[in-house]
Amino acid sequence: MTNEKPIYKPKNPNFSSGPTSKRPNWSLSNLEQAVLGRSHRAEECNIRLKEVIERSKKILGLPKDYVLGIMPGSDTGALEASMWCLLGARGVDVLAWDNFGKDWVIDAVEQLKLKDLNVHQAEFGELPDLTKVDFTRDVIFTWNGTTAGVKVPDGNWIPSDREGLTICDATSAIFAMPINYDKCDVLTWSWQKVLGGEAAHGMLALSPRAIKRLESHQPSWPIPKAFRIAENKKISTGIFEGKTINTPSMLCVEDAIDTLLWVESIGGLNTLFERSNESFEYIAAWIEKTTWVEFVSHKKETCSNTGITFQITEDWFTNMDVNQQREVMKKIVSLLAIENVANDINGYPKEPPSFRVWGGGTIESSDIRALLPWIEWAYQEVKIQYNK
Ligand SMILES: Cc1ncc(COP(=O)(O)O)c(C=O)c1O
Repeated sequence: MTNEKPIYKPKNPNFSSGPTSKRPNWSLSNLEQAVLGRSHRAEECNIRLKEVIERSKKILGLPKDYVLGIMPGSDTGALEASMWCLLGARGVDVLAWDNFGKDWVIDAVEQLKLKDLNVHQAEFGELPDLTKVDFTRDVIFTWNGTTAGVKVPDGNWIPSDREGLTICDATSAIFAMPINYDKCDVLTWSWQKVLGGEAAHGMLALSPRAIKRLESHQPSWPIPKAFRIAENKKISTGIFEGKTINTPSMLCVEDAIDTLLWVESIGGLNTLFERSNESFEYIAAWIEKTTWVEFVSHKKETCSNTGITFQITEDWFTNMDVNQQREVMKKIVSLLAIENVANDINGYPKEPPSFRVWGGGTIESSDIRALLPWIEWAYQEVKIQYNK
């Protein structure tokens, strides 16, 4: 049987999991009104920084009593700032089922050297047993594990009357799937993720309980300036009013505003969810009818609809050692890149070999639909090279 090349290509071949694709019709010329070459403390700049905060809060529907600030160091900076400033008051449970969750375990074990720590880890494709998490303690978790393509199904496993704080790395979930904000005392994300913004800037949302912790607890370890969201048990309120800890890029700020305006123009948060779900459903339907591929997540309700991750299941591939598997994956994704059909859809390098196709709201689902026959084609092309 000949392996016929598909005819239609995605209009936009960018399916990376971060930085993710810019919004449809994005253009550098939309950023011309950026306030550049001025102090970020100038009134004009502060207004723009505040606009990012206020529009984000409104689009997301964050509770009125949560504060939201712009942080250095992207999602990593926001998440680590919360760990450094909030932890140490009680025991900690930390959950990990993807590579970033594992980074937060490393922070807790090796950097903060927390003595009273429970680590709940799971294999690639699985969630840890959520019933084992102890909410009398502080809990750190990732809503959507980007490098494994596995998300929590909802927030029902988190009690409303918890004693500890919940710290949620929401970077590849927020703006893409429902999040029970009241179950998260800390939420962090980066501009480069779901909204396809520019790198290096993060967002940090805090509940009143998290603020109370900042104002009643002084960590025993040193806190670098980039993480310092409170001083002498007083929250640094300026951070949550656009007065950033250090200098932000006003070009990136303008870009963030541009995309928030786009989100408003297409109908807001629910439209973003719908766009992402549509992309996911195209992939799910294709996987259903395709014999050589499976989602990494073993349950549909925990399958990520953003970092959509799937693996080759045929014996000729699974019987190879992992280095040979990586070589096969590289050949397939290179073919797709050469054809200008898909960029950056190889799975995360530290995870088992897999495909990972971004399906957040900046992606057109018609592009996902156009991509799938090409993945089939590239797979068969490479399989033939192995006489299979
Ligand atoms: C779940 C998760 N956490 C943290 C990060 C780190 O994000 P950043 O590089 O924006 O700090 C990523 C990036 O992909 C991620 O997916």
